[in-house]
Amino acid sequence: MENDNQQAVFFAEKDKILFVDDDPVNTEHFVLSFEEEYDIITATSGEEALEIFHRQPEISVVISDQRMDGMTGVELLSTIYARHPDTVRIIITGYVDVSDIIDAINRGHIYQYVLKPWDIVQLRLILEQATQTWRLTRENQQLADALREKNRLLEEANIQLTNSETRLRNLSGNLLHAREDEQKRIALELHDELGQSLAALKLQIRVIEQEQASAAPSSREELVIRLQELRNAIAEIIENVRRLSKNLSPVIIDDLGLDSAIEYLVDQFTDLYNIQCLRKGPAAGVIFPPRFHLHIYRLLQEALNNCGKHSGATMVELVIQPEDDCAILIIKDNGRGFSKKEVLAIPVKERGIGLTVMTERAKMMSGTIAVHTAPGQGTEIIFTLPNTHAGTDGKPGQHG
Ligand SMILES: Nc1ncnc2c1ncn2[C@@H]1O[C@H](COP(=O)(O)OP(=O)(O)OP(=O)(O)O)[C@@H](O)[C@H]1O
Ligand SMILES: [Mg+2]
Repeated sequence: MENDNQQAVFFAEKDKILFVDDDPVNTEHFVLSFEEEYDIITATSGEEALEIFHRQPEISVVISDQRMDGMTGVELLSTIYARHPDTVRIIITGYVDVSDIIDAINRGHIYQYVLKPWDIVQLRLILEQATQTWRLTRENQQLADALREKNRLLEEANIQLTNSETRLRNLSGNLLHAREDEQKRIALELHDELGQSLAALKLQIRVIEQEQASAAPSSREELVIRLQELRNAIAEIIENVRRLSKNLSPVIIDDLGLDSAIEYLVDQFTDLYNIQCLRKGPAAGVIFPPRFHLHIYRLLQEALNNCGKHSGATMVELVIQPEDDCAILIIKDNGRGFSKKEVLAIPVKERGIGLTVMTERAKMMSGTIAVHTAPGQGTEIIFTLPNTHAGTDGKPGQHG
């Protein structure tokens, strides 16, 4: 309804027609003929017409005589065409002057020509078509403008959408990384903390089994003591699980510092496997940056456990070696060694993950792990951490 009203108002507005002729008789005739239908503005020369146009560009149709003093009709309409191409341009010309305007018509500067003397019915028709053309052109232009604006908004929305998508992708990528890192960390902790404790427990139970198989009933007291020890070991594991779930970090490092933690680890190892451990070099806590202490502890833990479980060694050497531009940690046993090729040939599902975990830890510290071994030749694990000269100045680490 509102639209209809708007349209009614729009059509009720008279179209503006600029009539240009230096003969006042013609002008009067034109005005009298069409003033009811159109809002007519008149000019007596091309120059005056341009001035009027400059002031009121909303003119639908310019209708001009060809022969005038000064600027000709064609010159006037060509100028208007250059400035306002949508205004409909009509020329009134005598038959003899037609050849003068043909070029302008061909170049699109003139919409229509009317021969003199003009017929009022014919001219009315021409003016109707001309104003209709002007309106359609204007409506088209408004639609095109609206379309352009909509396109612009769409493009903006598109850019925002792409930006949001990129942000979302980055965010989910980060989340994924964070989750993977966290999972990796938990896997390492589970392997190192729980796996080893349970393995030790299993070993203790096997020792008891073997002893019990041949024991006299009188050794019951001893069994009670053994079971008591087992209970303590289990309690320790429970405590470890509690700590693990709390912060996934072996509390002993935080409580005592890296070197005391290593000492405790080595003592446990020697007790459990009866393998002598020789320590050489400065304190690990001084050489390795505090942020890596947990990793160092875990590396050592796995290397010692492998040595206890697999090597049959009688002796293991633990060496910390500060160099100019790096720090080196060596764990070397005199056991049976192994063929790396054979171990790698074991299907992944059945293969242990200790060595892989070590390599992962080394990577996390931007360091490297090398394993030197062969059957019958013992095993040497060499961990190298580059860029540690800051740690070799004798200043103690933050732990301990
Ligand atoms: N010090 C060592 N002496 C002899 N063999 C070793 C030694 N260290 C590792 N190995 C051999 O390498 C294999 C792979 O060790 P890795 O630590 O990756 O797995 P695992 O100890 O068998 O199992 P997990 O560590 O997952 O409990 C071992 O099964 C063993 O055969
Ligand atoms: Mg292992």
